[in-house]
Amino acid sequence: MDDYFRVKGFGGQRKLRGRITVSGAKNSALKALAAGILFEDPIVLQNVPQIADIERTVALLTSLGADIMSLPGGYAVDTAKIGTSEIPSEIARKIRASIVMTGPLLARFGEVSFPHPGGCVIGSRPVDLFLDGFERMGAEIHYRDDRYTISARKGKLCGARIFFKNQTVTGTETFMMTAVLAEGFTILRNAACEPEIEHLANFLNASGADIKGAGTHTITIRGGRRLRANGIPFVTPPDRIETGSFLVLAALLGREVVIDQCDPSHVESVIAYLEAAGVPLSVLDATITVGVSDKPLRSLDVKTHEYPGFPTDLQAPMAVFLTQAVGEAMVFETIFEGRLAYAEELRRMGASIIPLDQHRILVKGPTPLRGREVESPDLRAGLAFLIAAMIAEGESVIRNVYNIDRGHERIEERLNAVGADIVRVKAHGVVAEEVVAA
Ligand code: EPU
Repeated sequence: MDDYFRVKGFGGQRKLRGRITVSGAKNSALKALAAGILFEDPIVLQNVPQIADIERTVALLTSLGADIMSLPGGYAVDTAKIGTSEIPSEIARKIRASIVMTGPLLARFGEVSFPHPGGCVIGSRPVDLFLDGFERMGAEIHYRDDRYTISARKGKLCGARIFFKNQTVTGTETFMMTAVLAEGFTILRNAACEPEIEHLANFLNASGADIKGAGTHTITIRGGRRLRANGIPFVTPPDRIETGSFLVLAALLGREVVIDQCDPSHVESVIAYLEAAGVPLSVLDATITVGVSDKPLRSLDVKTHEYPGFPTDLQAPMAVFLTQAVGEAMVFETIFEGRLAYAEELRRMGASIIPLDQHRILVKGPTPLRGREVESPDLRAGLAFLIAAMIAEGESVIRNVYNIDRGHERIEERLNAVGADIVRVKAHGVVAEEVVAA
């Protein structure tokens, strides 16, 4: 059995006050770990969140032969001794982001094999765009016993023109990195524009890569040689999804909460949404202060969109927001087809939610929520449940806390520091603090 959280709800009162610091972005640090494969020398990663997905990725790289040293707040990654490009199924299945290692391994060793990542709770998560891109770069694909083996026909990949039918975040990052080691030019069209992509490109360019246009829909890469970091560290940017989740939390439960060490320019869509809903925000360079209005919160439709639109990863927390706002609003999830399953649990907590189809729900508010026992289905919905449990009347139990730990470092400690009442009960039934004391 996994750890669980016991959460005392505030019964609709605002009780949070203080400063909460945003961690480094999981979805940036994961890609930087994979980028280590492109380097001749070790790279240093800083501001890395200590979360399960990072630990698994470190374990995966280590199993391939990389030397990884823990440093305060990060890692030194040396991939010089990687001796195999066979990604083990056991770890890869648990962490879909491992797909970003496939391209760099293929480009460096001329071959890679990896398991089909399979579907997950938020949707089918296909890999067709990866396979198509590898073929265009001169690779051939064999699929046997649930594993892909991909080999470069001439022993090396060549630059290519790749059009993504969907804007894919990990796809764009994978091919940007792959192209750094491929011969000649690669042009990525309809590329994703998430800020983590531009941040990664800037790091690679500082280490000798030639990437232009990252952060736009057309990225051009001139490839051909391994990179050298020469001691320049990769500094993980603040997690924009954690920032957005804390904004929602503070908008619903805060008296005055300061979200610290964030990058407000990465959450413009969320800021615009919350301001339109009546949340007073004061934005500085690296902090956002969430105040309280004497007017009730207003409902507004939410439609997820690729960056800089409203992030799919904040769709579930925003549905919780709507349960407390006045009016009726539609939540339209446009990126993934299975990302509204959490709504049923919110209904059981007392929310008024009408499912319309696989992609849309109607949320009517405000409704008081009741504490319940819920299971966290995925990382983002898990945090949404934590927020809902804090709003609710009475106590809630949140199971599958592992799903929240995958993406948020010591979440209960950080929330308790601003006034939450969350207790982690360890798998064998012992309250977390007692374990530390023992
Ligand atoms: N798609 C395809 N074919 C492919 C790949 C993707 O059709 O080969 C489709 C997907 O089915 C989806 C769309 O393209 O409809 C966009 O998916 P994308 O590839 O961008 O998702 P991802 O790269 O697998 C990353 C984040 C997710 C985040 C999405 C969307 C990482 C490790 N994961 O996933 O984050 O939801 O982008 O922004 O960067 C999370 O952190 O909890 C998480 C799920």
